[in-house]
Amino acid sequence: MRFAEKVVLVTGSSRGIGRETAFRFASEGAHVIVHGHAESEKLEQAFNQVKQLSPNSLKLPCELGDADAIREMFRIIEAHFGRLDILVNNAVVQNGYPFLELPEKEWDRIFAVNLKAPFISSQLAAKMMVKQGGGKIINIGSVHEFQTKRNFAHYSTSKGGLLMLTKNMALELAQYNIQVNHVTPGAIATDLTDPARQQQFLTAVPAARVGQPPEIAAMICFLASDEANYITGASFVVDGGLTLGFCASRPDL
Ligand SMILES: NC(=O)c1ccc[n+]([C@@H]2O[C@H](COP(=O)([O-])OP(=O)(O)OC[C@H]3O[C@@H](n4cnc5c(N)ncnc54)[C@H](OP(=O)(O)O)[C@@H]3O)[C@@H](O)[C@H]2O)c1
Repeated sequence: MRFAEKVVLVTGSSRGIGRETAFRFASEGAHVIVHGHAESEKLEQAFNQVKQLSPNSLKLPCELGDADAIREMFRIIEAHFGRLDILVNNAVVQNGYPFLELPEKEWDRIFAVNLKAPFISSQLAAKMMVKQGGGKIINIGSVHEFQTKRNFAHYSTSKGGLLMLTKNMALELAQYNIQVNHVTPGAIATDLTDPARQQQFLTAVPAARVGQPPEIAAMICFLASDEANYITGASFVVDGGLTLGFCASRPDL
């Protein structure tokens, strides 16, 4: 049991990669805080499954676009568990707008959830971890943090910012035995990539398939484990070769 008695918050664990990660932590002994943006059937279902694996787990809905709500979430975690060992900043908002039509309010919303929320959450988590003598923070980026596509100016920029936040936190928190790392998924089968979009990726990914949430959860859990104690400030691409090069999926070039 790699995570026996560890307290873990996985943001955005009502669905997708976050849910799979919550299952994996719970199956390896962690007390998991299952999180979604609000009460929902999916959040309830994910929580019920986690609770079967780890009965002391907790469900905490929280709108991450609201900084006061994040502070309240951490207040509850501290009151309930008295500690936090692992934070996974995974929740995401994504949409697409041509740059010339990108509304300022969408820029602000994407940055609030994808970048400001990880900053506030990590700062609150790190303050607890300093008192405890250490901890792990794992940020979930995207291949769009270094390769963009049309209509993604706000999303790509928020993920690029998150990568630099990872590195800055790693630098300043290493002295407190807090390791901060980054996982960069490619195209993964979740609600974010509907079946039609997954089909399009088949020709773009050298592995000729999209990834599955457990393949990202495995990397997150490795970085959260003691096996990764000497790794900090690092970024791990898990993309089936999607970003190897512009002709990676074109044997004719
Ligand atoms: N799937 C991919 O192909 C892919 C590719 C590259 C990177 N990633 C990254 O992997 C991570 C997980 O992605 P995913 O595909 O698993 O996403 P997903 O299935 O769309 O799930 C998103 C999660 O974020 C939560 N969330 C959304 N808006 C929120 C808000 N305003 N406040 C609080 N929580 C909110 C959702 O909660 P509710 O259920 O309550 O809405 C849900 O739990 C993200 O950081 C994403 O950028 C994914």
